[in-house]
This record gives sequence, structure tokens and C-alpha cells, in this order.
Amino acid sequence: MSTASARTPATASTTAASTTAASTATASTSGGSAGRPLSGKAALVTGGSRGIGAAVALRLAADGADVALTYQAHADRARQVAEQIEERGGRAWTVRAELTDARSVRQAVEGAADTFGRLDILVNNAGTGAQGLLETVGTEELDRVLEVNVRGAYLVAQAAAARLSEGGRIVTIGSCVASHVPFPGMTLYAMSKAAVLGLTKGLARELAPRGITVNQVDPGPVDTDMNPADGEGAEAQAALTLLGRYGRPEEVADSVAHLAGDGGRWITGASLAVDGGFAA
Ligand SMILES: NC(=O)c1ccc[n+]([C@@H]2O[C@H](COP(=O)([O-])OP(=O)(O)OC[C@H]3O[C@@H](n4cnc5c(N)ncnc54)[C@H](OP(=O)(O)O)[C@@H]3O)[C@@H](O)[C@H]2O)c1
Repeated sequence: MSTASARTPATASTTAASTTAASTATASTSGGSAGRPLSGKAALVTGGSRGIGAAVALRLAADGADVALTYQAHADRARQVAEQIEERGGRAWTVRAELTDARSVRQAVEGAADTFGRLDILVNNAGTGAQGLLETVGTEELDRVLEVNVRGAYLVAQAAAARLSEGGRIVTIGSCVASHVPFPGMTLYAMSKAAVLGLTKGLARELAPRGITVNQVDPGPVDTDMNPADGEGAEAQAALTLLGRYGRPEEVADSVAHLAGDGGRWITGASLAVDGGFAA
């Protein structure tokens, strides 16, 4: 159970609002998560308002974690996810974080850690899609995608690492389209997601002395707003998986929960394909 202010989205740029929510939520009692695998833990999920991030937020909360989730534009969607968590007896807090803005990222991460009084799990999920042949992609689009998927993911990890507890977890959402690029027009997206592997490996090495594991999950085509299963080119994507279908966000969340939980205690610097065999 959480308080009304823990439910209220705070804009990361308003420090006062974050502080108020933080002190109130910290004072509230935790709602019935005892005995579950992540009870007593606090998680931050970027891009938790929709798609894979929303499924991860719900799953970590079902496993007993307090969950802070960020959004960029869809405050209403983030609030709906938080309300679902609270209806099931969990604690949730929503905050705006614009990944292209270092200050916004820092304030969201600080707000999450302050709200729950700790930070144990970061799921670095927020990202943006990109499509276009080499000659059609302008510098604005190039900068936007790299700022969100690469620079943004780095900034989130940097801010979170400063607050993560000993033995904490970082799970970043990469993509099956990185080591394997089966269609033209995916170069920019693939390049941005290939960078996630460097982030994962480098951070795994840097944070190991604190017992923090750092891994990534590389989803195949997953039915979300970014890549709807009834969208253009969806049939071709499904056909490239060995299992012949799109994944559901919950199927990615299952693997994230494993890495975030005790089962992931001896896994670090790894990338896990959760893609129905897309990369096989
Ligand atoms: N769907 C797939 O097939 C697939 C496959 C492989 C990997 N992935 C990766 O999985 C992750 C989640 O994808 P998804 O399919 O769930 O996408 P989605 O449904 O489009 O959701 C994207 C999420 O990221 C947030 N976001 C977007 N731009 C942002 C920005 N500039 N700053 C902060 N937050 C931002 C959105 O916030 P708002 O809701 O506020 O807009 C939303 O929560 C991404 O990293 C994506 O690259 C997806």
C-alpha cells in the first residue's frame, strides 16, 4: 500500500515535488510483500509507462519490490501502471525522466532512491526506435537516437550506480537487432543497441567489486507500441523467429526478473537473447 503522494507523478524538474513525495512514501508502510523473492528491495524501471518497461515494473512489483517507474510523455500511462501495482498491494512511484537531459535523469534516479530509502535494481529499459536507409537519416535523427539509446542509457546507469546498494542489479534492455541485422533500414537502431553491450561489459567489470551484477536482455520482436505485432513488416519479423511469433512484454519481464533476483547472483557481463530464436 502506498500513499496518495507516492502515486502522484512528480516532474523531475521540480525538486520540491520529488522531495514531498519522497518523505511521505518513506513514511508509509510496505504492503504485504513479505516472503516474496524481491521483498525489501527497491527497483527503478526507466520507460515503465508502456510496453516492456510496464511489464517489467508489474513483474518486479509482483515479486515484492517497491517500484519507481519513469515516463517521458505518457504520465497517464505511468500512473495506470502504478495504480495496478498499488491495487495488488505494492508500492509504486512515478516520475518524468527525459533521457536526453542529464539533469532530468539525475533527479529521477535520486527521487526514486530517496522515495524508497534505497535502490537495489535498475532496469535500464527506455529507448526509441529508428528506421531509415543510410541516405535518408539526417543528423537530427542520428543525434536523437544516440542520445536516447546510448547517452541516455549511460546517464541512467551512472546516476543509479551512485545509489545502488551492495549486491545490486543492473539489467539493460538491448535488442536482437544489433549482432544480427536482417533488414535494411535498421543501421542506426542496430548501432545504438550494439553500444549497450559495451555498457554492460564495462559496467560489469567496474561494479563487480561492490557485488553489483550488470547484464542485458536482448529481446526479439515484442508486441508493443514501438513494434506492434499487427504493424507493417510484422509478419516478416515473426517469420525470422524459430518459434514463428512475436513475444509478449511479460515474456521479456520473466527473464529480467530472473536476472534481478537471487537466480542472477552469479551472472554478470552477460547478454541473454529472449527472442524466440531470432538470433539462432
Ligand atoms: N518492442 C520490440 O520489439 C523491442 C525489441 C527489442 C528491444 N526493444 C527495446 O525495449 C525497450 C522498450 O521498448 P518498447 O517496445 O517497450 O517501447 P515503447 O512501447 O515504445 O515504450 C518506450 C518507453 O520508453 C520511454 N521513452 C521513449 N523515449 C524516451 C526518452 N527520450 N526519454 C525517456 N523515456 C523515453 C517511453 O515513455 P512514454 O511512455 O512517456 O513515451 C516508454 O515508456 C527499448 O529499449 C527498445 O529499444 C524493443
